[in-house]
Amino acid sequence: MNKEQLRNTANAMVQKGKGILAADESNPTCGKRFDGIGVESTEMNRNTYRDLLFTTTGMEEFISGVILFDETLRQSTISDNAPFPQYLSGKGIIPGIKVDKGAKELAAHSGEKVTEGLDNLRERLREYYQLGARFAKWRAVITLGDGIPTQACIHVNAHALARYAGLCQEADIVPIVEPEVLMDGNHSIETCHEVSQMTFTKVFEELDKQSIYLEGIVLKPNMIVSGMECSDQAGIEEVADRTVECLKATVPTDVPGCAFLSGGQSNEKATAHLNMMNTKHGDNLPWNLTFSYGRALQASALKAWSGETENIQDAQDAFYQRAKFNGMATTGTYSEELETEMA
Ligand code: 13P
Repeated sequence: MNKEQLRNTANAMVQKGKGILAADESNPTCGKRFDGIGVESTEMNRNTYRDLLFTTTGMEEFISGVILFDETLRQSTISDNAPFPQYLSGKGIIPGIKVDKGAKELAAHSGEKVTEGLDNLRERLREYYQLGARFAKWRAVITLGDGIPTQACIHVNAHALARYAGLCQEADIVPIVEPEVLMDGNHSIETCHEVSQMTFTKVFEELDKQSIYLEGIVLKPNMIVSGMECSDQAGIEEVADRTVECLKATVPTDVPGCAFLSGGQSNEKATAHLNMMNTKHGDNLPWNLTFSYGRALQASALKAWSGETENIQDAQDAFYQRAKFNGMATTGTYSEELETEMA
């Protein structure tokens, strides 16, 4: 394990002013996104769409790294056939790879999931490193509901995250450790706070037990928000305050940064929440707070594109704008007025 390399990569991923683009939708998930705009999810269409995102002029001002799916890591730019990992590295953007095999039903625990993908992971990571990946992602999912999550679900997911993280570091690949407490449901923000705190605590216990080098990881947490169907939706400041409080209570100071998932928040909310955290608390935090958004960076671009070549420039403009606003949110310099001024 090359600690210096891991530390440098992790620090570059969460540097101020920038964040991570999650473009690692599996083929079925990409299919769902494409269904929304009436585009067929073929290998060529997926290549065209990812090409559109990655060739956006100036994205490197705000994007430090891109998470790719296995298929995308092996694809190339349309115009000059440059493999995506090399193309991104050439722009100063670190290529990453989703390595989990998805969240599957947890045996004997109805409604709960455990993420799979540890089998042969050591060999897969070796190949991914050769292909240019310098960080990886593994997403664990914690569902809220009647009587769930159970301790068992939190435990097995935290354990798998730590096993994955150890294998990544052995391969000189920075693990993004992603425990996602889902927004789905009618639970209150208090419940999200309580479950997230329990989950993140358990994750760091497992990382510690399995001797993970914390300076060489990036945490990808959910924010502390009200459930999507909760009638009482917490405001921006409460989300920011609770999220920071929860992270301070659970995330060791050795961790270089937390890069949030957007998890179904609207584009504007995802940006405003991150901005508020950095405006109000940014000077007093031991780690950087940034983004690793999928939907909140891509939704407007996807809609603008709608599968039409003549819309590519508009789609790139939409993506650039979200990347820029979120980049500003990492330094607390975004304001909601920008949304209407630039519309
Ligand atoms: P969202 O921002 O759409 O939640 O996606 C982030 C991600 O990578 C989930 O694993």
